[in-house]
Amino acid sequence: MQVKNRATGTRVQRGAIREARMSDLVTPLLDRRKLVTGAVGLAAASALPRPALAQGAPLKVGFMLPYSGTYAKLGQFIDAGFRLYVDQKGGKLGGRAVTYVQLDDESKPENGTDNMNRLVSRDKVDVVVGTVHSGVAMAMVKVARDTNSLLIIPNAGANDATGPLCAPNIFRTSFSNWQPNFPMGKVMYDAGHRNVATITRRYAAGAEQMGGFKEGFTKAGGKVVEELTLPFPEVEFQALITRIATLKPDAVHCFFAGGGAVKFVKDYAAAGLAKSIPLYGSGFLTDGTLEAQGAAAEGIKTTLHYADDLDNPANKAFLAAFKAKVGQEGDIYAVQGFDSAALLDVGLTAAGGDVAARPKLISAMEGAKLDSPRGPLSFNRAHNPIQNVYLREVKNGRNAYVAVAQANVDDPARGCKLSA
Ligand code: BEZ
Repeated sequence: MQVKNRATGTRVQRGAIREARMSDLVTPLLDRRKLVTGAVGLAAASALPRPALAQGAPLKVGFMLPYSGTYAKLGQFIDAGFRLYVDQKGGKLGGRAVTYVQLDDESKPENGTDNMNRLVSRDKVDVVVGTVHSGVAMAMVKVARDTNSLLIIPNAGANDATGPLCAPNIFRTSFSNWQPNFPMGKVMYDAGHRNVATITRRYAAGAEQMGGFKEGFTKAGGKVVEELTLPFPEVEFQALITRIATLKPDAVHCFFAGGGAVKFVKDYAAAGLAKSIPLYGSGFLTDGTLEAQGAAAEGIKTTLHYADDLDNPANKAFLAAFKAKVGQEGDIYAVQGFDSAALLDVGLTAAGGDVAARPKLISAMEGAKLDSPRGPLSFNRAHNPIQNVYLREVKNGRNAYVAVAQANVDDPARGCKLSA
């Protein structure tokens, strides 16, 4: 079966393992590589021998990311950011050449277990890097725990991944869903808002992101007057926007990302609410989306662990290199991909390039202190980032830095039994 990719209008094969042509891929930033899509029964797949380090075999990185659907651009930029770091290291991590397998998870949680099993058991990758969607990530985390596979989560914020399901072999280079939202509670309260409505998609990330905001906002003294939701990945926002107009809250806080964020921001502005009921969001609302949102996004304030114009040498170098290689502006997803490779590099260097030297690899990753484009990045006992969360405002088509909303934000890692 073929499906249309909304980002480019190209058609992508699903449900079969295939060699992707350059023209099939959703943006020109990806080279010709193996792309596998959809869930295929393991029984049909042939087992490949695991390459031996002693034979100088390359490190096999399995990307399980959305290359199609509403989160396609997010997956592509994570992939591109990871490869940028590897290219800057001469095509190597920890001294080992790197090869890639790509799997399009389509942001479908129902295929997550089969897809992850395929990378781990059939393709025998050394490390899985994925994914974007929290529901898919939860399936991946369970397989990673069962098979003791090394997993680096470069976006999905599912709180449980670094909460009750934390594990020595699972790291996250992005955020927990709680993390960029909790600080927004105080920001909005301090801006004078007391009664706020929230709106998001009805799935794990939506509930957890709005939960983080509600915790911060009620702690500051505010009240969430209504929690509006719609199914993933639906984009029919009109009825909910009408409800907001009727409710007349002081402001709205939301979580949308990718294609859904583009449409929501445009619909909200078109309804004429942007001035009377200011729209706020976690930064995914306006990251990687501003070109498509245009004037509708100007003035929107968000909180995130990144701002386009962060004034540090690592960010300047990253943005210049990404633009030179990919031809597009970098964003938080590209940063998270880049940092995933950087984290793995730290671990592999300590382990002499041998992924099987787990204690050395993991202990080095746990202690990593990365000079990330987002600012200083370290990891808590649950392997979730400790990082600044910034208040940003869209100005002239960029997520401009306003202030540090909260410094060194550390997710509470509720339920994680790993010790420091
Ligand atoms: C999530 O599902 O966890 C997610 C997706 C897009 C942006 C941020 C979080």
